[in-house]
Amino acid sequence: MDLAARLEALALRAEQDVRTVATLERLEELRVAYLGRKGELAELLKGLATATAEERPRLGALANEMKQRIEASFASADQALRTAASASQLAGEKEDVTEPGMRPPQGHLHLVSEAIREISAIFEKIGFTRTRHPEVDWDHFAFEALNMPKDHPARDEWETFFVDAPVSETHGKMVLTPHTSNGQVREMLRGELPIRMINIAKTYRRQSDATHVPMFHQFEGLFVDKQVSIAHLRGILDHFFQAFFGPTRRSRLRPFHFRFTEPSFEIDISCGICDGTGLVDGAKCRVCKRGWLELGGAGMVHPNVLKAGGIDPDVYSGFAFGWGVERTYMMKEGIKVDDIRILYKNDLRFLQQF
Ligand code: DAH
Repeated sequence: MDLAARLEALALRAEQDVRTVATLERLEELRVAYLGRKGELAELLKGLATATAEERPRLGALANEMKQRIEASFASADQALRTAASASQLAGEKEDVTEPGMRPPQGHLHLVSEAIREISAIFEKIGFTRTRHPEVDWDHFAFEALNMPKDHPARDEWETFFVDAPVSETHGKMVLTPHTSNGQVREMLRGELPIRMINIAKTYRRQSDATHVPMFHQFEGLFVDKQVSIAHLRGILDHFFQAFFGPTRRSRLRPFHFRFTEPSFEIDISCGICDGTGLVDGAKCRVCKRGWLELGGAGMVHPNVLKAGGIDPDVYSGFAFGWGVERTYMMKEGIKVDDIRILYKNDLRFLQQF
């Protein structure tokens, strides 16, 4: 057989072989065998060297043509095999609609936000309205109108941040509110009676240690009407305690002193572990030690405060209370944290427990 015939025979055989190939690996082996540097085509082309000068261009052109035919057949086989492979992969991966889905991670509100919502809801049910008063306010509302004149030593307790801002002739300096009691006189000055306010806001004091953070939250209740008595205060407190802490909890008033209430009290709640007895199986209760837990301040609104709010203390009376949200919430959950600052560290390992 001459070179031309052998070239055509090679192309034909390659095309036939390629047609029977079932895998990409086998196709590659064949490609090397036919078209590789030491493959059959290369071998045949060595014969060109011995061809005569007249024959050489024709043979060269033929060799090229055969090479292209072989390459084309490999390319189309390659394509067909790849398409088939991906089709069979897809068939194997068919979606199973009955497979249980993956639950996206679900967060929840911050503990303090949850506590605020719960506290508001409990008071709203008995006719209190959640109000908003400034968290940056005048000295007047934070102290002066609450019966704490300038330079009164009682002010020391509220380690106050003063704001570097112009001083008002009538209202004094600006402060970051150190308690929510600034809302009392502001609410009175709105001029609507009776008042049933629950004021929940951020409060600030210059303090930071294991049991204090410089920014925390308080909720302040204010009830002003005719003939309001301490009995009403107790009734409202017991309602809140039972709704928030559980049906068996009771309140206790201990005499105390605040400038803006008279009389003033510290409010205790009966301990949920020993039910106010201070004893568990004859031994001292480890949670409270004496049957009661301290919650915060309350009292009957001082006549001077009513006057500052434009209310006649001979006609109206009222009670008020103000407690820390964080502290109250931690008591509810029985959460004992070594360091209260963890509430504001956004450490998910802590927050996700609740
Ligand atoms: N404002 C007080 C504080 O931050 C708490 C307080 C005591 C609020 C007695 C009151 C109250 O409304 O009547 O320590």
